[in-house]
Amino acid sequence: MIKILALSGSTRSGSFNQRLLDIAVTGARHAGAEVTVIDLNDYPLPLYNQDLEYSEGMPEQAAVLKKLMLSHSGLLIASPEYNGFPTPLLKNTLDWLSRQQAEHEPPMMAFKGKVAAVMAASPGAGGGTRGLQVLRILLQNLGVMALPNQVTLGQAATAFREDGRLHNDELQRSALLLGEELVNLLEKQVTRFD
Ligand SMILES: Cc1cc2nc3c(=O)[nH]c(=O)nc-3n(C[C@H](O)[C@H](O)[C@H](O)COP(=O)(O)O)c2cc1C
Repeated sequence: MIKILALSGSTRSGSFNQRLLDIAVTGARHAGAEVTVIDLNDYPLPLYNQDLEYSEGMPEQAAVLKKLMLSHSGLLIASPEYNGFPTPLLKNTLDWLSRQQAEHEPPMMAFKGKVAAVMAASPGAGGGTRGLQVLRILLQNLGVMALPNQVTLGQAATAFREDGRLHNDELQRSALLLGEELVNLLEKQVTRFD
């Protein structure tokens, strides 16, 4: 079965990105994937510092998360943009996971060959689009292929219904479809390499 790890670049309670992510997660599950939704609050990590890494190694929570990442082939990521960039929380998490834990470990082991779908939400008009451009570069550098399609949600403060769906039916469908599309592509990959 296709396994997807879903995470938000915001740990804010009531995060719009977490709520948008949940819709794509529904789409991915509907398409038959097993989706693990994580909250980065459960993986508190120090700001990456090379001296700290050399003296103490990878923090335990980073090692746990890296192992989890290794056991999933797809990523669903929703992140706000902070001044046009993915959040420092997301960047810091990905930086820690990119580190080798053993001398002969292949570089970027946790990321290589994975496929991601990216999304963003913002109370502003832009919906976090600029942050996704940067996130795409970061993912590429890590060896992750990102789907060309993405979903951005502007005016997020008034976009959600009480049941979690979006008022805008077209956007709701796009978010569901993005999750489905990720699963469909991963399924083709599995077939090709089987
Ligand atoms: C440091 C900082 C910078 C921000 N920069 C942007 C920005 O560049 N564009 C934008 O649309 N919103 C920006 N925002 C507003 C966030 O989009 C808003 O806080 C949003 O609710 C965060 O997503 P969340 O609801 O998932 O936590 C910024 C917020 C902070 C704290």
